[in-house]
Amino acid sequence: MEKRISLISEDDVKNTLTMDDALQAVEDALCEKGSNRVQMPPKTYIFFKKYEGDFRTMPSYLECPDIAGVKVVNVHPNNPKTYHTPSIMATILLIDPKTGAIFAILGGTTITAMRTGAISGLATKYLARKESTTLAIVGAGTQARTQLSAISKILNLRTVRVYDKNDEAMKRFIEEAEERYSFTTTPATSLEDCVTDADVISTTTPVTTPIIQDAWISPGTHINAIGADAPGKEELDPEILKRATIVVDDLEQAAHSGEINVPLTMGAITMKDIHGELCEIVVGKKTGRTSKEEITVFDSTGLSVLDVATAWMVYKRTQEKKLGSSIFL
Ligand SMILES: NC(=O)c1ccc[n+]([C@@H]2O[C@H](COP(=O)([O-])OP(=O)(O)OC[C@H]3O[C@@H](n4cnc5c(N)ncnc54)[C@H](O)[C@@H]3O)[C@@H](O)[C@H]2O)c1
Repeated sequence: MEKRISLISEDDVKNTLTMDDALQAVEDALCEKGSNRVQMPPKTYIFFKKYEGDFRTMPSYLECPDIAGVKVVNVHPNNPKTYHTPSIMATILLIDPKTGAIFAILGGTTITAMRTGAISGLATKYLARKESTTLAIVGAGTQARTQLSAISKILNLRTVRVYDKNDEAMKRFIEEAEERYSFTTTPATSLEDCVTDADVISTTTPVTTPIIQDAWISPGTHINAIGADAPGKEELDPEILKRATIVVDDLEQAAHSGEINVPLTMGAITMKDIHGELCEIVVGKKTGRTSKEEITVFDSTGLSVLDVATAWMVYKRTQEKKLGSSIFL
């Protein structure tokens, strides 16, 4: 017997999903995770060493709203330069828990970027100083754009500084931001110039050797560490982690593939140094920021429950608006 599967393109997703929606879907999913009502085994990786890339599979189930799914996503940092395609491309399958049937296939690239921005927005809400006005963004690619979009909804930003080793990428980012936002976005002349004295920093590069130095980070700073999402990747000098309150999106994933993975392996920090998961703060099981001087680091590895919750929201909206198409398999 053939089964009907809805197809929702990247364009359908872009026309449907706002950052306000993504913030809502992500906060709801974090509440579910914080209440132990999800299943989410750690993501699995296949590495293509000769192509400097990998792909991951990320499954999960949320008891409420009773939806399951899996994302397949790659990370190939050379794609933009070599193939003129994004570094990250994703597809999400939604699964009906009652029958186990796949009922929707969605373009997952926009959803990935939006939910990654949204969780940083929420980490900033719970961990940054409320009066923060200066944001530094390191890396000016896809994730950088949604960091800005989400954090600008949480803070009353006055100044944004951005640094990318690629001048052209930095220029394009600034042109887009100047068109879209009322605050000033300026190019930094160096990494140090970008992050020094920033209230909030988002790091979004694929580097495997730390680029953000401890000496540049002032008391009271909040850092969203986004780029390190696979074994061996790290963006921050481990000395920063030693004096910070470290919050992760998922303990198991962060330990093997997040910003903390290398410092843990090298013994610079231990699991006892981790304050907890962001979802525990969202549901009130753990405290967020407790002082103005505290340095806080949010280690984001990317959670399947965020993808599935956001995809489910997009699916419902597209059905209401009669967007998308379908196939029979
Ligand atoms: N935590 C998560 O949930 C999550 C989600 C998506 C992507 N990521 C990770 O975020 C990173 C960025 O992803 P993207 O989609 O924005 O990639 P991208 O290729 O669109 O952008 C990355 C940018 O970083 C810049 N860059 C690289 N090295 C740099 C350096 N040393 N200094 C300054 N800039 C540098 C590049 O020039 C590029 O513009 C990747 O490592 C990816 O795996 C994490």
